[in-house]
Amino acid sequence: MTFRENTTGTNIILTGFMATGKTTIGKLLAGQLGYEFVDTDDLIEGRYGRTVAEIFQEKGERAFRAMETEVARELGKRGGLVIATGGGLVLNPVNVTALERQGRIFCLVAAPGDILERASRDTVVRPLLQGTNPKERITELMQARKEAYSHFTQVETTGKTPGEVAAMLLSRIFYET
Ligand code: S3P
Repeated sequence: MTFRENTTGTNIILTGFMATGKTTIGKLLAGQLGYEFVDTDDLIEGRYGRTVAEIFQEKGERAFRAMETEVARELGKRGGLVIATGGGLVLNPVNVTALERQGRIFCLVAAPGDILERASRDTVVRPLLQGTNPKERITELMQARKEAYSHFTQVETTGKTPGEVAAMLLSRIFYET
């Protein structure tokens, strides 16, 4: 089955907490579907010529969130995309409405220990996880975001390879409504 050159179909949007594998799994899934892959953080970084960490530092979180809203509006008008969002993008209902106009949102889930492990292996600097006790910070933020994330189909990633998660997503996309 191939879906190559689909530019109009429903977007597949991957959200979830930081370091749950949205980008890795999203790229894999996009390749399998023949969809274009877009990562909202990368889009913002390319557009503003700064890393997310620099934007937080120089302009503040509020400015970054406004950039996310602009990007969500634009992507909601396009099709044939697999979109990996920054973990905080879906906390703003305006962004969710924009993305859901043309897409289905899945939330990747991982245990705090796995998130810490992945985040510390990663080269990306996550401003919200800086500080002396990142594990505690992860637990706090996860708790605070629990309700917002609960609105989307949950996809467990703990103990699974990116390939296994992508396969699970494909079966949800095509065989479940
Ligand atoms: C954030 C997640 C990050 C990035 C920014 C804020 C968040 O993206 O957008 O550091 O609020 O959860 P990842 O989820 O890709 O780490």
